Amino acid sequence: MESLGYVAKRMEVITHDVLIFGTGLAGLRAAVEIARKLKDSASIGLISKVQIQRPHSVCAEGGTAAVLREEEGDSLDLHAWDTVKGSDFLADQDVVDRFVGLCPKEMLLLDHWGMPWSRNEDGRIKQRPFGGHSYPRATMAADKTGFFEIQTLYDTLMQYKNFSRYDEFFVTSILTSDGEFQGLTVIDMPRGKFVVLRGKAMILATGGLGTLYGFTTYSQTVSGDGQAIAYRAGLNLEDPEFLQFHPTGLVPSGILMTEACRGEGGYLRNSEGERLMEKYAPKKMELAPRDIISRSEMTEISEGRGFEEPNGLDYIHLDLTHLGADKINHALPLIREICMKFIGLDPIFEPIPVRPVAHYSMGGVEGDINGATKMRGVWVAGEVACNSLHGANRLGTNSTAECLVWGGITGEEVAKYLNSNPPLPKLPMDQVDAELGRVFVDFLQKKGVENPYEIRTELRAAMDQHAGVYRDGESLSEGLKKIKALKARFEDIYIKDTNYVYNTNLINAFETENLLDLAEAMLTAALAREESRGGHARTDFPERDDEKWLKHTLVSFGDTGPNIDYKPVTITKWKPVERKY
Ligand code: FUM
Repeated sequence: MESLGYVAKRMEVITHDVLIFGTGLAGLRAAVEIARKLKDSASIGLISKVQIQRPHSVCAEGGTAAVLREEEGDSLDLHAWDTVKGSDFLADQDVVDRFVGLCPKEMLLLDHWGMPWSRNEDGRIKQRPFGGHSYPRATMAADKTGFFEIQTLYDTLMQYKNFSRYDEFFVTSILTSDGEFQGLTVIDMPRGKFVVLRGKAMILATGGLGTLYGFTTYSQTVSGDGQAIAYRAGLNLEDPEFLQFHPTGLVPSGILMTEACRGEGGYLRNSEGERLMEKYAPKKMELAPRDIISRSEMTEISEGRGFEEPNGLDYIHLDLTHLGADKINHALPLIREICMKFIGLDPIFEPIPVRPVAHYSMGGVEGDINGATKMRGVWVAGEVACNSLHGANRLGTNSTAECLVWGGITGEEVAKYLNSNPPLPKLPMDQVDAELGRVFVDFLQKKGVENPYEIRTELRAAMDQHAGVYRDGESLSEGLKKIKALKARFEDIYIKDTNYVYNTNLINAFETENLLDLAEAMLTAALAREESRGGHARTDFPERDDEKWLKHTLVSFGDTGPNIDYKPVTITKWKPVERKY
């Protein structure tokens, strides 16, 4: 192995005006906004651990929420109310108002930029029903919405010149001092180099953390890297205990069977052939919010009305057989293709095996209504962020919408910031040296006895077991104990591959470190919240308790473990009431 001095000599320092870390919908939308506003006068560095047109956003299927038909009965107030009620009243209502007001603009911008929206016969943009929404406002491109949105944004960005791509760059830390952003330390994976990226500002837009769980809809690349490095750099994680389980993950892989299946009229049936939601949400049925449907499915399964699966992934049926071939082929082509390719089942003729699956993190890095964080020069947008929009439970299609809205907002905020001519922060060479040593000595040369892949597998199994749809204090404590033990074992891992170039063994270890920190934060916050609200359903505290718990959790990183604090929820128009559907 080469010496550290050799690696240091190959270190590269690259400077841009702004760094955008994460190139999903939020990151690309932010890049487009900065480019539009500053007309190529600011240089943008786009950083992704994958090829930049292949973020997890391409997996978004069902649609993007927006009010487009006020003349026919939809309204911004109705969208806001649905979002607040769906959040189990933990959403900040000023944030919700701003969000719903900006969604229609984002749809029209995408339309002008060439987005191939599905259309009605009369040529107008088509919208379909989605869970928890009182009006059909899911705007879509069949069941491949995210893929086409990413392509449209990337094509739009191509009209501008002043951006550079850093594909397959893995960020290991945020450089910061005195509450100010100074840059990022990065592994250039294809070239095996250590790179320092400097910028006057950064937008963090890295998406979720869903591979914390074994059964998940997320791509295997989604390991919470953005949350973890921000958390370790001193930013708070807000509301991390609220993890969304989507009601229809394909068994056994977990691939998303979009809620659009139910928006188009699909049924959920138990093993007795009954439409199970008749018991739990008789008005909304299959279009109740996700937290309620996921709990209903788990109740049916635990009371013996599910179908058995040999590995414990007992399931219920998503039945589309009454929709007919034409509707399925036109509105849900990807769903049909996935079922046929992954489980050899044609949903035109047979029901699909599904169960609740880890799908979205309502919590994230604390950001204000503009996406600004308490670190000067850093903004957050999309799933990595918690702008207090979704509270305890997000409505379907509000996520891609959130990415577009806060991509646009943070892009505009950063453009304003750059216009004020902030200086380029100095480079903290002591931190750079320390991180270089951590990456290429402490990690790359680890020669312990623990296999990091086994630790990752055990971590995911522990989260599946202890922090699922239903949880209780005893099980959460046991889960937390397991995570702490895994963290201790992680100190003694070995890295078998000692090469610099494209060392996926090394990257996997960093991802596992990130997931371990986030699991600990999530379980600590979940254990502390002694009530049930939205996606956090505790069997030992089954009621929502507004008196004690109508507040956001804030978790900060501490050397001996997470510290917890709280902040109030902003209520403007709607006082909490019982949630019935
Ligand atoms: O079911 C879906 O298509 C997922 C949509 C969402 O999470 O917003």
